[in-house]
Order: sequence, then C-alpha cells, then structure tokens
Amino acid sequence: MNKQQAADRISKLRDLINDYRYHYHVLDESTMSEAAADSLKHELSQLETEYPDLITADSPSQRVAGALTESFTSVQHSSRMLSLNDVFDQAEVSAWRDRITKLLPPDTKIEYFADIKMDGLACALIYEDGLLVRGITRGDGYAGEDVTANIRTIDSIPLHLRSTSQYKQFLTGRTEVRGEIVMYKQDFDNLNAERLKQGKSLFANPRNTAAGTIRQLDPQLVASRKLYFRAYDLLRDQPRDVPTNAFAYQALRDLGFLSNPDAKVLHSVEDIMQYVNTWEVKRQDLPFNTDGLVVKVNDREQYANLGVAGKAPRAAIAYKYAAEQATTKVKDIFVSIGRTGAATPVAMLEAVLIAGSTVQMATLHNESEVLRKDIRVGDTVIVHKAGDIIPEVVEPLVTLRDGSEKPFKMPTNCPECNTKLVKYKLEDVVWRCPNESCPSRAWKRIEHFASKSALDIEGLGEKNVIALIDSGLVSDQADIYTLTADKVINLDRFAEVSANKLVKSIQSKTKPTLARFIYGLGIRHIGTQTAIDLSKAFRTIEDISTATINMLSDVDGVGDIVAESVVEWFAEPRNQKLLAKFKDLGVWPQPVKSVGGKLAGMKFVVTGSLESMDRESAAEKIRALGGDFQSSLGKDTTYLVVGQNDGASKLTKAAAYGTKQLTETEFLELLA
Ligand code: IVH
Repeated sequence: MNKQQAADRISKLRDLINDYRYHYHVLDESTMSEAAADSLKHELSQLETEYPDLITADSPSQRVAGALTESFTSVQHSSRMLSLNDVFDQAEVSAWRDRITKLLPPDTKIEYFADIKMDGLACALIYEDGLLVRGITRGDGYAGEDVTANIRTIDSIPLHLRSTSQYKQFLTGRTEVRGEIVMYKQDFDNLNAERLKQGKSLFANPRNTAAGTIRQLDPQLVASRKLYFRAYDLLRDQPRDVPTNAFAYQALRDLGFLSNPDAKVLHSVEDIMQYVNTWEVKRQDLPFNTDGLVVKVNDREQYANLGVAGKAPRAAIAYKYAAEQATTKVKDIFVSIGRTGAATPVAMLEAVLIAGSTVQMATLHNESEVLRKDIRVGDTVIVHKAGDIIPEVVEPLVTLRDGSEKPFKMPTNCPECNTKLVKYKLEDVVWRCPNESCPSRAWKRIEHFASKSALDIEGLGEKNVIALIDSGLVSDQADIYTLTADKVINLDRFAEVSANKLVKSIQSKTKPTLARFIYGLGIRHIGTQTAIDLSKAFRTIEDISTATINMLSDVDGVGDIVAESVVEWFAEPRNQKLLAKFKDLGVWPQPVKSVGGKLAGMKFVVTGSLESMDRESAAEKIRALGGDFQSSLGKDTTYLVVGQNDGASKLTKAAAYGTKQLTETEFLELLA
C-alpha cells in the first residue's frame, strides 16, 4: 500500500468508525458489532503508526492522547454559563409565564421547549470549522477549566461534527455545544461494585463521580470510566443561526450529538404540567439521574430579549420534583419532651430543601433508634420526608466521617424541668418525664388539643400557644376558653383582627364531637381511630370516664394497653379537675346519638356463655340495634343477660341494683 492508498484507507476507516459511533450513541442503534468496530480501530491505529503524519486530531485513535495533564488552565467562556431558578408546582409555573408575558411585547405568542434536567456537570465544547478544539467545565460560569484531553475520551462527543450533516453551516466558523456530562446509574453501580471487591472506598453518587473523573489529570483513567455527554445547547456568533431551541436539538443530533429525544415543544402551562406528570414516574427508567425538568422559551430571540436576572435567564426555569430524600449534616441532637412526657431525641440539621420545603429538624424517635442507627452529631445523614409526615433521619453516611463526630448520649434528666427521666416499663424504649406539670408539656398539650384532628381551632399553633402560656393567660387546655379579644390583643403576636379571629375560632368549638374531644385530651395511645371507636362504643364522656379496663378492652380495636391508659388518665385528679373546668366553662363533647335502633338507651351485660352466639356477636348485635354493651354491671345497666355457668358476682350485683334479668331466649326475642 502506498501512502496515497493509506491516506484513502485511513480516511474511510475514520468515517466508518465515526459513523458507527454516531449510530451507537446518538441513534441508539448498531451498524456493526463492537468487535468489528474494534477490529477497524485496530487497523486504523496500525496504519497511523506506519504513517504518523496522516494522524488527524479527530481520528478515533486520538481520543486518549495518553499524556498526563499537569494542571488545568482557566479559560473564559464566550458567554456566561448560567444557572436556573427552581419552581416546584403549577402555581409557580403560571407565575413564571405571567412574568415573562408581561416583559414581552403585547400579544406575543410564547412557545415552550421542555427537556429532562440531567444530574451531571455542565460542559462547553468548542468546534472550529467542525473540529473539536476545546472542552471547558462550567467553573464559576464566567470561566472554567480546560479539560479537553479528558473530554476527548468520551465516546458520545464527536471529535468532528458530522460532515454528512444537513446543518452544514455549523461546520464553518465557531460552533459551541453545551451539555451535561453524566455517569449512568448502571455504570456507577458497576464501578462501585468493582471498587468494593478491590477494597477501595465507594463513591457517593454518579454526579460527584463524573465531576471528580473530569478533573482527573490522567486521561487514561478518564477513558476507563464510562461517561456520557448529552447536549442541550447550540451557540453561534450569529444568534440567528439558531432560531429556536427545538431547532438546536434537531441540529445537535444531526451534527453527531446525543440529546434527549423526548425533549418537546409545548404551548401552555397545562401542556407543561402534563409533561411534568408524564416524566415524574418515567424518569426513574432513564439511565441517568434526573432532578427535574428544564422549561425554556422556544424562540431564541424572545429568550435573549428576556435577559438575565441574577444568575439565571428569565426565559428558563428548572421544574424540580419533590425530592423525598436529601443529605445534610447533623448540627446537634437535643431531647424534646412531648405531650405525654415522652423524651424524643431530635436532630437539628443544616437547612436542606426536601419535597419543596426547608427541613431543619428531624425526629430520631428514641434513644435505641439513635444508637441502633449510630447517628452522631457532625454526621452527614440521609433525611427522608414523605407527604406531611415529620421528617426522619434514615441513616448516617459513615464513610464520610472524619473522626470529629460525637456519639449521642441520652440525658438522665428532663431538659425542661430537670426531673429524672423514667421508663414506665423495663422493656419500654421511650424515656419519659414523669412530671405532669413539666412546662414543656403544657404547650404541647394545648397545641395538640387545638390541632386539626382534634378540636381544629385555627390560630393555636406552637408560637401562639407559647406566647399565651408565657403571658400567664393560659396554663391548660380549658383556659383557652377564658380568652377574650381584649386580653389577647395585648400580646405582641396579635393585633385586633387576629385576636378577634382567634377568640371566635375558640368559641366556635365548645361542643366538639366526642371523638375529637377524647383525641384532643392527649391520652397516651389514643389516636384518632381509637377515639372514634371509643366514642361509638360509649357515646358519652361520662361513660368512657367510668368504664373499667374490661369494658374498654371489649371494644373492637381497643387492647389492654389502651384500656389501661384510659383508666389511668381519668383516675388522675389533675385530669378530673381539667374536665370539671371544661364543664364549668360550658365546653363539653356532644353525646353520640344512638342510631335510633329498637335497643336505643338500653344497656346490656352478659354473664356466662350463650348457646346461640359468643359474647362478641352479642355485643355487635346489641350495638347494631342502638343498645350499649357493657362488660361489667353498673347502676345504669338495663338488662343482665344470664347464660350458662353464669358469674355469681354479677347476679348478686344485679339483685342489689334491681337490674332486670333476661334468659337467653328472652334476649333473643328482644333482638328479633
Ligand atoms: S438548559 C441556563 N437543559 O442545569 C442554563 N440545562 O441549573 C440552561 N442541565 O447549568 C441550560 N440538564 O448544567 C439545560 N436539559 C437540560 C439540562 C440542563 C441539566 C443543567 C445545566 C445547567 C443547570 C442549570
């Protein structure tokens, strides 16, 4: 082969290999097997060894130049690489549309262009007459680092713009392509698995790994880590060369770049929200991590005219999906005393945005949890937040420790009143402050009483309750009903309108439902459902307050622990006083009306076993007909149903009270 023939062959091989690369990376299809492509690359490099002067900068053999970079030089960007402002919901998208609509000439029709926001690092590629001459990291936006040798190793970056492109104009002069360098999730997992085998430290996430890789001084190492470049912007000295963002994406693909095929032109906020919803789930299936969408004005002249505010273009936004998890640092761990005296360790965090709201605190549940998860002050932790649930710390990232972290030690005394913390039972995980008048419990009890699921009183959130307690106006839940607008208005936090509103809201809640009231009392273990169950079974607060453990635990959904807790609560003189105070103030729960069945107002006790049904079914039948099923006999019991092997004590009591007795047959007749 003479030199001319070699030159011909080299040029053809180059084109064929580049074509293979283009189809593989951009069109996601294969023109030949990887082995065949490798074989062509091998032939090319042999010819190039023979004729070194035929090597061109854009030859596939030149991806790994081999030379170690000494350090990176700083290079100015042709135009600033900007950031984006975040939005989190439809209202914010609409607000953005309204803002830009006002800034554009009247009646301008705005088209939008939306794409997935990739979680990687931004990079600018400069092509001169079609040839890749430089790759620059984002840096501070004005200037970045020259990482040309490293980015050349990335297969999805064309070393030469496709000469067969329909967009030939971009092959002359300066063309800049901006995009994101990402590591795919699968490649990241493989890399970490490999490192684990080799006993090396693990990388935290694909983005940091990609960023760290690009800043390596050894291009060989960069070449060994799989990275991808996905383009999102095309810049020319003459902005008119690129009329729209949709045009830019088409041209980029044809010039040989990988750009998201799902990017789309949209026409309204509704369209945008539909795109948002589609990708909320589908994005999990993408090979790379995403943290939202980018929505921009499609027309580039409009885009440019809208200008820049701060660090971000006015014409584009990042729509962020509510991330349910984030990492942050534990600044401190303190112990909070809850309504029931429970001492809960709480992590004070460096503020972090999760699911659209700033999180600064997260529950650590209890001492055992903190020790089990080994969460220390100074740790970087994963914080989880779902819906309205209180954020919690999932786990510490132990590999990020530097030795300065401090293990947690549960205090022995209440941080509020210094009473020694206790465990009611040996197996309890929760330490409690046994001091019923511990100041930290008063405001939590009141806040709970007023909360949405309880009495639902507006304006009694944490800060207002604390202000009311501090001023001496209230010290327990009943006291709030003594508040008048005149009294409240004197507090810093209130003005005439808010004071009136608060008092009105309190006074509208003097006849709560029994379930809300019971829940609002804050009895340990009584959640909203148990409160409903109790209220249905007993119908009045008087009956709940005098019920025995047996009677209580007969109710569906009420176990011994709950039953004990209820009895304990009502036995406490302090709570009796509270109830008396409520009554004096005219605040009392509405009795639950019986459904008006034929047994309405009648109370039954069953002694001994019935032949036709068990106790549970008897209770159900009585309740279904509007009667009450009691588990022990009282003065108010209407009927004692006497079965086999009846209990003597109940019969004696019934005789003493003059309670009517029913045989099983009589009872069945009554039910019929
Ligand atoms: S358009 C003003 N499109 O997000 C920059 N950016 O927060 C507008 N990014 O620095 C760029 N995916 O690195 C655009 N599909 C995408 C993107 C994307 C990720 C990054 C980009 C930029 C940052 C802005």
